[in-house]
Amino acid sequence: MQQAEVIVIGGGSIGLAIALELNQQGTKVTVLSKDFTAAAGHAAAGMLAPNAERLPSGPMFELCQRSLELYPTWTSKLENLTGKSSGYWPCGILSPRIGPGPSPADPEVEVEEPKPNHEIAFPISADAIHSYQSGLGQNVVGGYFYPEDAQVDNRALMQTLRAAAQDAGIEIREGVAVEGFVQCQGQVISLRTSVGQQQADHYVLATGAWSRELLPIPVTPTKGQMVGLRVPLGYGQTQPLHRVLYGEKVYIVPRRDGRIILGATVEKVGFAPHNTPAGIAQLLNAAIELYPTLANFSIEECWWGFRPDTPDQLPILGASPCENMTLATGHYRNGILLAPITAKLIAAHIKGSTDPLLNSFSYKRFRAASNSALAHRYSGRPAFDPT
Ligand code: GLY
Repeated sequence: MQQAEVIVIGGGSIGLAIALELNQQGTKVTVLSKDFTAAAGHAAAGMLAPNAERLPSGPMFELCQRSLELYPTWTSKLENLTGKSSGYWPCGILSPRIGPGPSPADPEVEVEEPKPNHEIAFPISADAIHSYQSGLGQNVVGGYFYPEDAQVDNRALMQTLRAAAQDAGIEIREGVAVEGFVQCQGQVISLRTSVGQQQADHYVLATGAWSRELLPIPVTPTKGQMVGLRVPLGYGQTQPLHRVLYGEKVYIVPRRDGRIILGATVEKVGFAPHNTPAGIAQLLNAAIELYPTLANFSIEECWWGFRPDTPDQLPILGASPCENMTLATGHYRNGILLAPITAKLIAAHIKGSTDPLLNSFSYKRFRAASNSALAHRYSGRPAFDPT
């Protein structure tokens, strides 16, 4: 068989999106995937939420915003290629604030926290939020509306992306673990894998939370537990929620088919598997406080995954220490959101055209002797630590 020009290591949302983008530009690509089911993309809730996540202004917000803008055409393209849905839904995100305390919309009171730092957030009063979404908890005293944020059914998207890649003729080798790189004079010569040596002209590292097994870059797992509910038959409405509810301790993501996804814990427990009573209790309690109607809905499933975290919680994109290897990892809470822009910028970078935005996400920022990267750790959403 003809050797691939590019081997993408990692068959999650980022790896598949890059592979597809390269393929569409005429590059012969192979994807090596250790375990598709373990990819962080399955464990997300699919929020496309640069505003509700309260990312600071600057390169990260710009990257997220550019990706959000790509979403309608990117998902339409995937849907047209495969005939499968991605569940893209520009539903907006409502971020209720639980009292006691002032409403963000109260002109008399300056609210210290939470405070969105972008203009595309609208403060809303208690009256407005309760009329906007009926059934919210009595303690909800107002909040913010983020009209431009959206959602995608991340698990449907993962299947659609994979089908699109397969239909396009990309070789996806499932169950193949990369064990190391053979390097010489700043070049990767070949990959050592569980199925023998593999070679290409260029390599992309898109191994998410597992990246440190292959390269000394500071990517560590942050576990997220999720709960899936279903609106019961006979409830009267397939889906009583019409937009994402992003609370201070939980987010509640309605799907149009009657499911409701609750997420997610943020736990530094390494790769410790399984759901835990503490994690699930924390999600359920916070969700019921925000939207008490949920208390009698059916629990359909619980699952978990590992976000690829970095010291400054920004992705690592672009050049690597090896001339013929590109990095696309460390997307932390925003892998699903950032898949289209990552694919676009990384494919262009491999073809020799590097967007200046990539400079802000270089692995080199962690080489500095000082700990300045940590100083930029963004003060976004609080960790939902159940312990
Ligand atoms: N994107 C939300 C999360 O990672 O929990």
